[in-house]
Amino acid sequence: MLVTNKIQGIEGKITVPGDKSISHRAVMLASISKGTSSIKGFLRGEDCISTISCFRGLGIDVEDKGEEIILHGKGLYGLREPEGVLDAGNSGTTIRLLSGILAGQEFLTIVMGDASLRKRPMARIAVPLRKMGAMIEGRDKGNLAPLVIRGGNLKAIDYTSPVSSAQVKSAILLAGLYGEGDTIVREEIVSRDHTERMLKALGANIKTENGIVTVGKSELHGEEIHVPGDISSAAFFMAAAAAMPKSHLVIEGVGLNPTRTGIIDVLKEMGADIEIDNLQEKAGEETGDIIIKGKKLQGISIGKEIIPRLIDEIPVIAVIAATAEGKTIITGAEELKVKESNRITSMVTELQKVGIKVKELPDGMEIEGSNSITGGRVESYGDHRIAMAMAVCGLFANGPIEVANSGCIDISFPDFQKTLKTVTK
Ligand code: S3P
Repeated sequence: MLVTNKIQGIEGKITVPGDKSISHRAVMLASISKGTSSIKGFLRGEDCISTISCFRGLGIDVEDKGEEIILHGKGLYGLREPEGVLDAGNSGTTIRLLSGILAGQEFLTIVMGDASLRKRPMARIAVPLRKMGAMIEGRDKGNLAPLVIRGGNLKAIDYTSPVSSAQVKSAILLAGLYGEGDTIVREEIVSRDHTERMLKALGANIKTENGIVTVGKSELHGEEIHVPGDISSAAFFMAAAAAMPKSHLVIEGVGLNPTRTGIIDVLKEMGADIEIDNLQEKAGEETGDIIIKGKKLQGISIGKEIIPRLIDEIPVIAVIAATAEGKTIITGAEELKVKESNRITSMVTELQKVGIKVKELPDGMEIEGSNSITGGRVESYGDHRIAMAMAVCGLFANGPIEVANSGCIDISFPDFQKTLKTVTK
């Protein structure tokens, strides 16, 4: 169990672990590239380890050398039929993106997941992948894992995604590498574009115009891939420091891809003092140092347009909104209901347990500002981002907050507690 207490401020310089989305993609794309790839800054969280184990099951040789992961890619058609069931664990990105690659393989694969993943919707990828010609079956007419996939002989599609989801977009683009013709994916609001960037870096025939992505049959070649720090992990520290007067925190080497920086925009709109330094581009992704000085923040309205750029940061935004002056309203975020837990219900329930005035909305929540936060025992629902958000809540509370089942933090940020200790005073 993780226990956090009220602190005076957050001070120091930290780094955060590698970006989860980019780490998954590095292993997947390197596996279907020709030649050897070196992956530096890889996140050794449970989700990305699940991706490695799935690709080992598909016959890929992955060596963990500490500083780097060396992966011997076998090209688009070098994967082999796994002898057993592949396990995606808790990871939606693993099962959905992997399904896109498996749609291009003529052999049979079964992919399972943990109790949380087995409740999450898979029709969003199964429907377009079937349109391309793959056979995908599962419980609930193919909507729930375990999934059984036999692919091959794909044809290109022009698909308008009903949800702004990088996992859906990526699954189709990866299948598109195997399809006859140009595969096109359109989204109403553009989701994170790490797949497109990495595909381009590895030599794919891909282009993006006005948010519409087109990919053709391509060969990929192995590369050196640098994974920047994960802005979604940095967000817990960024938000806490921004909302706590007397804080001064530097987070070095964070990924600043514009499809991910909604958290910075929202914090600034709430009045936060945030600057970016040392801006660079590494292997097609922007990185930089984030400098945060703490102050009292103001409540704001957060609507649909920005949600895909901060979808994973909403739990911690809800926490600091409770400490801000005035009300914060979050809408257009119904996708939160199908994450590792129903993150609207989870957050509303747990915030209420520690005395915060918050109301659940069908597509978000409404948080009163200037709450007096009490201590208490809260639940994580086995959801890493709920656990870390509630741990941040304890830093502002009048009594200790105990986060039960906090082991799930290892999914994305194994050193969270250690990092927190180094900057709290
Ligand atoms: C991810 C995309 C997002 C995000 C998830 C990681 C990815 O999910 O919430 O944590 O790596 O593509 P959706 O694509 O379902 O929005």
